[in-house]
Amino acid sequence: MQNPDIRIALITGANKGIGFEIARQIGASGVRVLLGARDSGLGESAAFKLRSEGIRAEFLHVDLSKHRSIEVAAQTISEKYGVLDILVNNASITDDDDGPPSTADREAVRRIFDTNFLGTLDVTQAMLPLLRLSLAARIVNVSSGLGSISHNRNPEWDFAQVKLLGYNASKAALNMLTVQLAAELKGTNVKVNSADPGFTATDMSGHRSHQTILQGAAAAIRLALLPDDGPSGGFFSATDEEPW
Ligand SMILES: NC(=O)c1ccc[n+]([C@@H]2O[C@H](COP(=O)([O-])OP(=O)(O)OC[C@H]3O[C@@H](n4cnc5c(N)ncnc54)[C@H](OP(=O)(O)O)[C@@H]3O)[C@@H](O)[C@H]2O)c1
Repeated sequence: MQNPDIRIALITGANKGIGFEIARQIGASGVRVLLGARDSGLGESAAFKLRSEGIRAEFLHVDLSKHRSIEVAAQTISEKYGVLDILVNNASITDDDDGPPSTADREAVRRIFDTNFLGTLDVTQAMLPLLRLSLAARIVNVSSGLGSISHNRNPEWDFAQVKLLGYNASKAALNMLTVQLAAELKGTNVKVNSADPGFTATDMSGHRSHQTILQGAAAAIRLALLPDDGPSGGFFSATDEEPW
């Protein structure tokens, strides 16, 4: 029988980058972390690494583009733990054929939406019954400042030149999921928030940023471990509230 005092977290795309660091730090706080990954070898070795640091970590196969993997993951959590306390929707992609509205390749935009929005929605819907069983559940959607419509409208914004229609719109849609789900779950034990990691040195950004993965993971970690009087339905960086 599992210890009911140990909270359970699922982090998608946790085999590397920001997701791995989120898993590491949530795990270091005493939570059992399930590292969602689409590649079994990468997921297993990431979980092994965290276990060698003394963290309760295990790999769980979750591919956002494969509905069956999500169904099986929810079934596995249900059978092993009977509950899920924290869901961090971190996995996402960019696409080389994405671009500004006049030229973005439609199929690239579709691929991005399939993973970043519909895949995340699929995971969220599959895990929600388990999250509702938690005394204090937290859903964190790892978004981006690029998903902020306010930032996209502001020519003075630092990243105003980054007009990737597919990616930016997928994160704006993810923010809509945050707001609507938080409204739907108001008055329950489930809090839902969006996190903006900021431009961070990972494979996704081509390691072009000076911000470390540790800094990039901070907002999501805080939201995953929010106390009961914390917010729901918000969009936060590590230090500030972000504009929608
Ligand atoms: N880095 C930044 O500057 C930045 C800024 C703002 C927001 N973000 C957001 O932060 C989050 C983490 O990004 P990152 O920079 O750490 O990127 P990353 O290093 O490229 O990691 C992305 C993770 O998502 C996984 N993934 C992609 N497609 C998947 C699928 N279909 N099913 C399951 N997993 C999938 C990847 O798995 P594989 O290893 O198998 O590819 C990888 O584990 C993302 O949501 C990203 O949009 C990043």
